[in-house]
Amino acid sequence: MSKQVEIVELQEGLPFGSRVIGATQENLKDEATRTAVKQAFEDRGFLLFEEVEESPYMQLAISEVLGPLKDHPVAAVSRAGNDLAPGVIDINSDVEDQVILELEGKPLANWLPWHFDHAYNNELNRAGVLRPIVIAPEGGLTGFADGVDLYRSLPEHLRREIDGLNVVYHLGTMTWNMRFGRPASLRAIRVSTEGVNVEEEAKKVPRSVHPAVWTNKAGEKVLHVGLLHTVGIEGHEDPEGDALLEEVCRHIADNANAYYHQWKLGQMVTWDNWRILHCVTGCDASIPRRMHRTTISGDYGLGYFEGDAKNGAGADAMA
Ligand SMILES: [Fe+2]
Repeated sequence: MSKQVEIVELQEGLPFGSRVIGATQENLKDEATRTAVKQAFEDRGFLLFEEVEESPYMQLAISEVLGPLKDHPVAAVSRAGNDLAPGVIDINSDVEDQVILELEGKPLANWLPWHFDHAYNNELNRAGVLRPIVIAPEGGLTGFADGVDLYRSLPEHLRREIDGLNVVYHLGTMTWNMRFGRPASLRAIRVSTEGVNVEEEAKKVPRSVHPAVWTNKAGEKVLHVGLLHTVGIEGHEDPEGDALLEEVCRHIADNANAYYHQWKLGQMVTWDNWRILHCVTGCDASIPRRMHRTTISGDYGLGYFEGDAKNGAGADAMA
């Protein structure tokens, strides 16, 4: 009989997240185990797999428990280059050619604000599984925050004002020109070739629209506003609308209940892209950092492109 998985809370006091200990390619074939893992994902929104085999095969075994894989929507985003599955992207800091931002006077690579993936698209992928390949010795943590908890923590007036509004996103609004929740000290030092290519691709892509708050299957309201690719509030791209969106984004940026994951080899992470926001703390630009992420299909059915455009990012963006 194969070893059983153990599923426990991620961290005491956190309103989301579980640890799955001891998953193997073998025991993830077991129907009861798959059901337990999938249920933990649905209930807790974030899973940290510990003590797992470091291989693309294991990454796919975990991904396939959560759903079928799909290709990434942005062509300019680097692929992992294996033929095992579509849509495995390579998040690789090329120290010679990567985005470098300055925050509080320090040059940083890999920094990303709170966001959900594929906001610039009409469909939102269900999840991704992140596998560390090269871990930064310092920095480069991935932060996760729960949209259900964020909604509950909003001041009452913000809850009332933002609920029912839609947010406009566009592929071309990147970290270096982000508008909402932007750290005061942020400035671009260098933009990568990939970043330039994504901006070029973005010229052909319509703007997408997603609700700021939506209600999940459990009947919980989810605050689902990203700070990346964010353009404004649909129908309120004016100073008043911008001020409201800025207040909501500041609330998200300042949230106290985030979990920051310090990566170790032998771990993989997945999160519910319809509920959990994530971010990356930067690291020194001379430090290599590399991750592979799968793209698990699915859609919550609430996003669309402006003007009923059918084709969005024919490439996949950087988020
Ligand atoms: Fe992301």
